[in-house]
Amino acid sequence: MEEVVFRSPRKKGRIAVFLSGRGSNFMALREAVERGDISAEIALVLSNKADAPGLLRAREWGLETLFLDPKLFASREDYDRAVIGEVESRRIDLVCLAGYMRVLTPALCDALKYRIVNIHPALLPSFPGLHVQQRAIDWGVRFSGCTVHFVAAEVDMGPIILQAVVPVLQDDTEETLAARILVEEHKIYPQAGGLYFDGRIEVRGRRVFILEHGA
Ligand code: GRF
Repeated sequence: MEEVVFRSPRKKGRIAVFLSGRGSNFMALREAVERGDISAEIALVLSNKADAPGLLRAREWGLETLFLDPKLFASREDYDRAVIGEVESRRIDLVCLAGYMRVLTPALCDALKYRIVNIHPALLPSFPGLHVQQRAIDWGVRFSGCTVHFVAAEVDMGPIILQAVVPVLQDDTEETLAARILVEEHKIYPQAGGLYFDGRIEVRGRRVFILEHGA
């Protein structure tokens, strides 16, 4: 068995959600936090889009929000340096990417190793990248789904935490398949968040093990 490279903390954590759009996964995470299914609070919602509906909703709910305008930074590295500063100054334990439409720099991935997770609407490592529901249909795969994974420098390729499977139907469009997958996203993303702060996620090599009990 490969050596343990990470074990998630058992604690009341502080989550930051990064988003660029409607934020339905953010809302699912928040509901889970409110229900007590994730032992954490949402301490920051950050966006690169001033008018992201998810950001506006977070503001309505009285959560701390931050719009970081990419136009104010000379490079992606500078932008991500600012992001790291915002995360560390708030003692954030875990960043949940939820439709955050920016490729993270290696510096950010390294600085927050095993502290950033993402939800992707396909069964990784199949269909990384964009427009993945249409690509799944075009390939004629019979099943697709979603993946919660740790974020590593290589896009959509970090250790896989949880997955859920949905059938791809013959008359599916990109929209109908995306909607079927989204239902599962809203289940497994909160579930992964819960496992994380219950101290039940262990990484050995590049594999994630779900522990029976938190440490
Ligand atoms: C989801 O499909 C997620 O898997 C992908 O981006 C989309 C975000 O949707 N990473 P929402 O903003 O959470 O509704």
